[in-house]
Amino acid sequence: MNPSASVTSPRQGSAAVGVSVEGLSKDFSGFPVLRGISLTVNPGEIFVLMGPSGSGKSVLLKHVVGLERPSAGRVLVDGHDAADPATRGRVRMALVFQAGALFNSMTVYDNLALYPREHRLGTEAAIRDKVMRSLQMLSLENAAGKVPAELSGGMRKRVAIARALVMEPQLMLYDEPTSELDPVMSATISEVIATLREQYHVTSIVVSHDRDLALGIADRVGILMGGRLVSLGPPADLRAPSDPRVADFLNPSIDLRNPRFRRLAG
Ligand SMILES: Nc1ncnc2c1ncn2[C@@H]1O[C@H](COP(=O)(O)OP(=O)(O)OP(=O)(O)O)[C@@H](O)[C@H]1O
Ligand SMILES: [Mg+2]
Repeated sequence: MNPSASVTSPRQGSAAVGVSVEGLSKDFSGFPVLRGISLTVNPGEIFVLMGPSGSGKSVLLKHVVGLERPSAGRVLVDGHDAADPATRGRVRMALVFQAGALFNSMTVYDNLALYPREHRLGTEAAIRDKVMRSLQMLSLENAAGKVPAELSGGMRKRVAIARALVMEPQLMLYDEPTSELDPVMSATISEVIATLREQYHVTSIVVSHDRDLALGIADRVGILMGGRLVSLGPPADLRAPSDPRVADFLNPSIDLRNPRFRRLAG
């Protein structure tokens, strides 16, 4: 493991990009999922987004990469409307999906090489160099010849991150990058995210339930609840949240006298 190794050499002239979410609302079949979210992610910032299951975190990420269109409001990436397909040609961004989204019929190596081959980003030898360095950064050198079905869930997650790194992104979005990972590997992912910022000024938006990750690497943490941004501030705020809903979310208490448990027992 060597997270400080040079993974990719960002192309000349690549600059950190910012994201601006302006009054973003999203309904699915009339059901409101995001309700007027406004926030700015600064160039080179590591922004961690937390919130209960179903609060709209993944839907928000999909708006940033243009996979969903707002019902109201807009998202700007480096000043360009994220809903405009041309934006993906202007800004190199990669979303690491919650479930990985790897091609099951291809080896890990070919999954990583697919994007640079399709976009003719160098000779096969240069692509090999990029792919192997990305794999190395995530301790996956020995997995290059395997297909995803032969890997553990945590390894597939790391492959998905390695595949995104090969794209030399200016903006990285991670959906639960440390779920399914043991504590050592979770710390490695945090180091990778921090290294990408230190060395290449990559802007990162990280959806995570992992408090250690948030406290360790975030510049700011936003908390979504019921489609609203209920908290936004430095990670130190999480140690003593003033909003009782946020405190309950971060430090849930289990009450075995809760009628739900009695029903199970009875
Ligand atoms: N394409 C879709 N069509 C209809 N409803 C959707 C769609 N995508 C998401 N939703 C709904 O939007 C809500 C928020 O979903 P989202 O996936 O953003 O939650 P999340 O905060 O990422 O939760 P988790 O922590 O469990 O991943 C959920 O009620 C979900 O059912
Ligand atoms: Mg999600």
